[in-house]
Amino acid sequence: MTTAFDTALADFADLLEAGLTARLDANPRPGEIVRPARLLAAMRHAVLAGGKRLRPFLLTEVARLLNPGLTVETLMPAAAAIECLHCYSLVHDDLPAMDDDTLRRGRPTVHVAYDEATAILAGDALLTLAFDLLADPTCYTDPTLRAALVLDLARAGGLGGMVGGQMLDLAAEGRFGDGEAPDEASIRQLQAMKTGALIRAATVMGARLGDGNEQEVRRFGRFGDIIGLAFQLADDLLDVTATESEMGKAVAKDAAHGKGTLVARLGVDAVRAELDRLVTEATDLLAPWGARSETLAATARFVADRRR
Ligand code: IPE
Ligand code: IPE
Ligand code: MG
Ligand code: MG
Ligand code: MG
Repeated sequence: MTTAFDTALADFADLLEAGLTARLDANPRPGEIVRPARLLAAMRHAVLAGGKRLRPFLLTEVARLLNPGLTVETLMPAAAAIECLHCYSLVHDDLPAMDDDTLRRGRPTVHVAYDEATAILAGDALLTLAFDLLADPTCYTDPTLRAALVLDLARAGGLGGMVGGQMLDLAAEGRFGDGEAPDEASIRQLQAMKTGALIRAATVMGARLGDGNEQEVRRFGRFGDIIGLAFQLADDLLDVTATESEMGKAVAKDAAHGKGTLVARLGVDAVRAELDRLVTEATDLLAPWGARSETLAATARFVADRRR
C-alpha cells in the first residue's frame, strides 16, 4: 500500500533529482575552467538515479515545518549539498580500501563502473561541490546563515563527525591491529559519528533555514540524533534481515567483516524494541507542531521500519 508519506518522499526525490541534475551539468561555473567529462559522468553516476534521499528530505521537511512559506526550490541548494556530501561518503565507503563493495543503489559502485582513481576524485569533487552550493551568495543571501550552514556541514562531515566515524568503524573491524572488540558504548559513539552526524546536520540545517530560534534548532538537533541512531540500527538490522535486491547493496557483510554492530551485540529483538522506543521519542519531540508534523513523524517510522 502506498501511503501519503511514500508519495511525499517520492515527489521530493523527483524534485531533488532535477535539482542535482541541473547542478551537475557540463557548463563551468564562474571561477571554474572546465568540467572533465569522465569525472562529471562518475559524479552523476554517484548522485543521480537512486537513493532514498532521506537527508535532504529531512532538511526540507524541518525547514517547512518551521516556516511553511518556504518552497522546495528555495531549499534546494542546501538539500543538494547534503546529498552530494552523503553520496561522496558512499563512493569512498565502497572503495576496495574501505568496504570493497561492488553494488550500490542497485547499480555497480563508482569504482566498478569507472575505476578507483576516478571514484576517489568523484568523491573529492562531490565533497567540494557540497560546500560550493552552500557558500554561493546567489543561493542564500544572508551571510550569517551561509556561514552557519557551512559550519554545520563541515563539523558533521569531517574529523569529529562522518569521516572520524568511518575511521573508528574500520578500527573496530580490527584493521589496525590493536585488537579488542569495541564495547557497546564505543559502537554507539562510532555510529553517532559515521551516520548520525550527517542526519543531525540535515535537521539542524533545516531548522536554521526555517529561521528556527535557538531552542528549536536544539530540539531538531535532538530529533536528528534520534533519527540518526535509528537509521544506523535499521541499516545493521537490514544487513541481517533484508535481501540484496531489496537493499540495492550487498547484505550479510557486517558479520563477515567482524563489524561490531548492536545487532550482533544485543540481538535482533532488542534492536527492534529500541527502534520502537526511538520512534516514540522522536515523535514526542514534534508535539508542539501537532498534526502539521505528521510527515516528520512518518519519516521517523519509515527510518525504523524501512526495507530499503
Ligand atoms: C547508507 O545510507 C549509508 C549509511 C549511512 C548506512 P542510505 O541508506 O541513506 O543510502 P541511500 O542514499 O538511500 O542509497
Ligand atoms: C557507512 O556505513 C556510513 C557512511 C558514512 C557511508 P556502512 O558501511 O554500514 O554503509 P553501507 O551498508 O555500505 O551503506
Ligand atoms: Mg562502511
Ligand atoms: Mg559500507
Ligand atoms: Mg551497512
